[in-house]
Amino acid sequence: MRLEEVLYSQGFGTRRICAGLIQQGLVALETGICTDAGHDVVTEGLRFTVRGEAWVFRAPAYLMLHKPAGTECSQKPSAWPSIYTLLPAPLRQRPQKGAVQGVQAVGRLDQDTTGLLLLTDDGQFIHRMNSPRHHVPKVYEVTTRHPLDETQVRRLLDGVVLDDDPRPVAAAACEAVAPLHLRLTLTEGKYHQVKRMVAAVGNRVEGLHRSRIGGLGLPDDLAPGQWRWLEATDLAALRG
Ligand code: URA
Repeated sequence: MRLEEVLYSQGFGTRRICAGLIQQGLVALETGICTDAGHDVVTEGLRFTVRGEAWVFRAPAYLMLHKPAGTECSQKPSAWPSIYTLLPAPLRQRPQKGAVQGVQAVGRLDQDTTGLLLLTDDGQFIHRMNSPRHHVPKVYEVTTRHPLDETQVRRLLDGVVLDDDPRPVAAAACEAVAPLHLRLTLTEGKYHQVKRMVAAVGNRVEGLHRSRIGGLGLPDDLAPGQWRWLEATDLAALRG
């Protein structure tokens, strides 16, 4: 692939801007600075720097973010900073079918929810992960206002009716790991589903954290606000 095209595909700006960066000597390959925008490179595992910042070629891009509290999963947030501000500009500017679109969150977490959030520019992946047909389990650590009891856990497992659908929704798994700590596994992603399910059994969510999606857990060393690439092993773990 031409070096100019590599930079463009990774979100470093229009083809013209990318050619300019290269011609100005701001792009280095492992072999050194390259000023030829048409230089042919092998993209597999390609490492390069732009203005001294290291980048690894990824297409498509898959990443995980430890979503902090007080952030919105929207590109145009209404009250809180967007999670997209936590990502480097190239990830927000990746082109898709000729338009600047960037990576997108795979489903949304509420403003006050923390934890594991996936982002990608692979539309099919988003569809597969969000589709209720694929039953990808998502594990939530719920801090409740009132002590949990067996009846609440049993009702969440049996299914509760929410206000927008007469069909009951049930947790795929549910256990009280401490008096105020519920671990709840869901395979769908309805609007405010955890909060509404917990409310339906007479309790209330005080804190919500997503710890796992499929076989992929949020790593202990990924601090709130930090992101990292998903590797092939992570993607395999997601498929289960
Ligand atoms: N369920 C909720 O209620 N909120 C979230 O953020 C995720 C699941």
